Formats: sequence, C-alpha cells, structure tokens
Amino acid sequence: MRCYLHAFLLCMVFTFCSLLYVFSQLASTFEDSEEWNLREQGIPERNSHDTGHILRKRPGLAGLRDREEGLDRCKSLSVSYWNPYWRLPADVCGVNCLLESTLRERSGSAVKEHSDERSHLAVVACGPRLEETLTMLKSAVLFSKKPLHFYIFAEENLHHSFRSALDSWPRTVQNKFKSTIYPITFPKDNAKEWKKLFKPCASQRLFLPLILKEVDSLLYVDTDILFLRSVEDMWALLSRFNSSHLAAMAPEHEEPRIGWYNRFARHPYYGKTGINSGVMLMNMTRLREKFFKNDMTAVELRWEEILMPLLQKYKLNITWGDQDLLNIIFHHNPESLYVFPCHWNYRPDHCIYGSNCQGAEQEGVFILHGNRGVYHDDKQPAFRAVYDAIQKYPFGENMEASLLQPLEASLQATTHTYCGRASHLFTKRLKQSIMSVHQDITQSRQSGHYFNTTP
Ligand SMILES: *[C@@H]1O[C@H](CO)[C@@H](O)[C@H](O)[C@H]1NC(C)=O
Ligand SMILES: *[C@@H]1O[C@H](CO)[C@@H](O)[C@H](O)[C@H]1NC(C)=O
Ligand SMILES: *[C@@H]1O[C@H](CO)[C@@H](O)[C@H](O)[C@H]1NC(C)=O
Repeated sequence: MRCYLHAFLLCMVFTFCSLLYVFSQLASTFEDSEEWNLREQGIPERNSHDTGHILRKRPGLAGLRDREEGLDRCKSLSVSYWNPYWRLPADVCGVNCLLESTLRERSGSAVKEHSDERSHLAVVACGPRLEETLTMLKSAVLFSKKPLHFYIFAEENLHHSFRSALDSWPRTVQNKFKSTIYPITFPKDNAKEWKKLFKPCASQRLFLPLILKEVDSLLYVDTDILFLRSVEDMWALLSRFNSSHLAAMAPEHEEPRIGWYNRFARHPYYGKTGINSGVMLMNMTRLREKFFKNDMTAVELRWEEILMPLLQKYKLNITWGDQDLLNIIFHHNPESLYVFPCHWNYRPDHCIYGSNCQGAEQEGVFILHGNRGVYHDDKQPAFRAVYDAIQKYPFGENMEASLLQPLEASLQATTHTYCGRASHLFTKRLKQSIMSVHQDITQSRQSGHYFNTTP
C-alpha cells in the first residue's frame, strides 16, 4: 500500500515537472517570437543585401542564432520601401513559416492597436548633414519614453552611413524606434526646378503628404533641430487641433521690428511675421483631403495641385524657398493652421538681441533650432554647446553627469553673448526631461526586480 502511494506520488511529481517544462518552452517560444516579430518589422526597411548582414552582426541572444540561419535559408527579401512587413511576399519566411504566419497576424493586430502610441518623425538630409541629423535623432530617442518611427529622406550616397550609424546604437536604444530610409524624390515633370529651390532637397518636405500616403500624421523637423523635451509631448499637440486645423508651426518672429517677412517679403505670408517651417506638425490625412483657397484660380485646389502653380507664380519673389510657399498657402487658409509658441522652435533670433520668446522665459526651451549653421561655427556658442553636449554624450551613461553637467559648464563660458545670458532657458526644460527619463528607468528596474523575485 505504501509502495503504491509512493509510486503515485512519484508519478504526480513527474507529471507536474513535465507540465512545467512544456509551459516554460511554450512561454519562451512566444517571447522569442514576439521579439522576432519586432525584429522582422525592421526588415522591409532595409534592402535584401543588408538584411542578413545586419542580423548576423548584432550580438544575438542565445536563441537568436538558429533563427538567423533560418533566415539565410529563406528567399532573400526584396520588398519595396513602402511595403509594411505584414504584407511581405508569402515565400519570404522566418524560422517556421506555419508558426510564424499565425504569429504574424497576432503581432499585426498588436501593432495596429499600439500604432497610436508612436510618434512619426520625418527629416530630410542632404549634403554634409549626416552627423547633424544623427544628433537630432539621438536627442529624439534620449528624452522620449514612447516608441518612435523615423522617416529619413536622404540622398542615396548617405543611406548606408545612416543605416550603419543607427545599427551601431545600443540594442536598448534601438528597441525604442523603427526607421525607414527613403530616397529624395520629386514629381517627375518638375524635379529640377524643385531641387534647386532654396537649399538642395529642402522642398522635399512639401511632398511628404504625397509620398507617405499611408501615414496619418507626421512631425517634420529640419536637421538642425534638437529635442530638449520628449517627441511625444510635441506629438500631443495634434490632439489640440480643432476641426479645421491641419498643420502646426511656430511664428517666424516674436518681434516685428526684426521680423523678416513683414519688412522684406514680396509675397503674401501668414499672420504678422510669417511662420517658420523648421518644426512642422501635420495631419496629412487632412492635408490630402483639403481644398485650398488661393490667389491663382477661383477654384480651390488640392495639395498636389497647388504646389507647382504656386512656384511658377512666385518663384521670382521668394527668398526662403518652400517655407515661403507654405506662408503663401496659409495666408489664404489661416483657419487651417495651428500656431504653437516659440519655445517649440527656439532659434537664435529669440535671443540674439535679447530674449524675446515668452514661452521659453516661463517654461524653458522645448526644441532648439540652430539655424544658420550655429552648431558648427562660433557665432552663437550657447547653441553650439547644446549640440556638442548631446553629440558627445555616450549612450547608457548617466545623463545628469555626462550630459547636463558638462553642458552647464560649457554654457558658463558663453555669457558674453546675449544667447549665452539666456542659456539657463536652454537647460530649464532639459533638466526636467532628464529627471523624468531617470525616474522611468528606476521604476522599470524596480518592477523588473519585483518580477524576478516572485516565485
Ligand atoms: C487626422 O485627421 C483625421 C481626419 O480628420 C482623423 O481621423 C485623425 O484621427 C487625425 N489624426 C490625429 C493624429 O489626430
Ligand atoms: C513680385 O514682386 C514685385 C516687386 O515687389 C511685385 O510688383 C510683384 O507683384 C510680385 N509678384 C507677385 C506674383 O506677387
Ligand atoms: C480653429 O481655430 C482657428 C484659429 O486657430 C480658427 O480660425 C478656426 O475658425 C477654428 N475652426 C473651428 C472649426 O472652430
């Protein structure tokens, strides 16, 4: 009798252990495949040649290795830039096509559910702007907690450098964003004319709503932008749009006496001093649907119809290229523009003759815009100091010790300039951003600890 009981108990223990094993296996498969799916989302963004290379280069988790081999066996990927990953051709497979196809659907719906969380950030980089653009993107990931999607429009000779630079960022940083790299494209008929307007490829931004047809909303920034506050906070301004707003920008000037448009423009412009297009938030769904009033014909025109006639009419009178065209468009459609305050687009003009941006005085600078090359010369050392501090900060180090403190030290040396005297505004919001990210890290560490010690 005792023997039976013994045997029965042994059986029970054995069954229990087997069950535990099966569950743990299942759980890890699912965990891994989640990760795999995340990784897979990156694939369509890279060309077929790079894919295997990038996967192999990355330090793999133990389980990742056989998957990489699996991928190598599969047909190499050649998908267009615009192909979302869940529409990959059927014969492009990962490890286990059957398992994967079900997981693909799972994560597809997961992505849709979470898609609202992402901030979509676009930039156009040409010529010698690679490093500057990477520093901008770095500032975007440093202070944001929510996931990001980067749309990088660049000349083809820069694509490889962008990819390898982003791939060299630590894995924890890479997990915070997706990136897609696009070539610069203009409408066929007038490509030359658009290209030479103002700076090379600057006018690409006008065509983003037509190129990124499947993207609802987008934050466009110039390459010389630095985020000192999270991207999602800027993104949240979209929810302040009323039903007629479809884009948001900051005024070109706070002080009409030094304003450019009101003194020199030979074309219509928005409001009292015009608008600056270096930071531009767009609801592109609305931009694509809207019929715009204009001074060329009595009929209202769509976005894709208005740009070329506008250029033809005003090309001899415009100075700042595509920004002037935007000013003309919103001059005739003022109800469509949401104007955000200057600390979301803070330029040397806001401090060069004394501080004139009220929002920054109160809450600090949210987004720094070092136009006219001030990150790279010695005309505005306070701007340059911020750029240098973010560029030099090594990922993973404590931001207070390795970013904020060196920055404050170098700002001390700029107080002989007007902008240097206003430079406490440069770090005011930045301090809060850093603290808030640190808090977040501490919290997630604590919760991680909690899970680890729970049996
Ligand atoms: C953009 O506008 C469309 C149409 O009005 C709306 O459905 C969509 O939710 C808006 N997007 C955002 C992010 O507010
Ligand atoms: C361009 O500027 C000139 C000189 O100020 C002006 O006479 C002309 O009307 C302007 N052209 C347009 C299309 O506004
Ligand atoms: C939206 O706000 C703008 C001012 O930014 C205003 O001109 C417009 O009439 C408003 N639209 C609606 C529908 O309230």
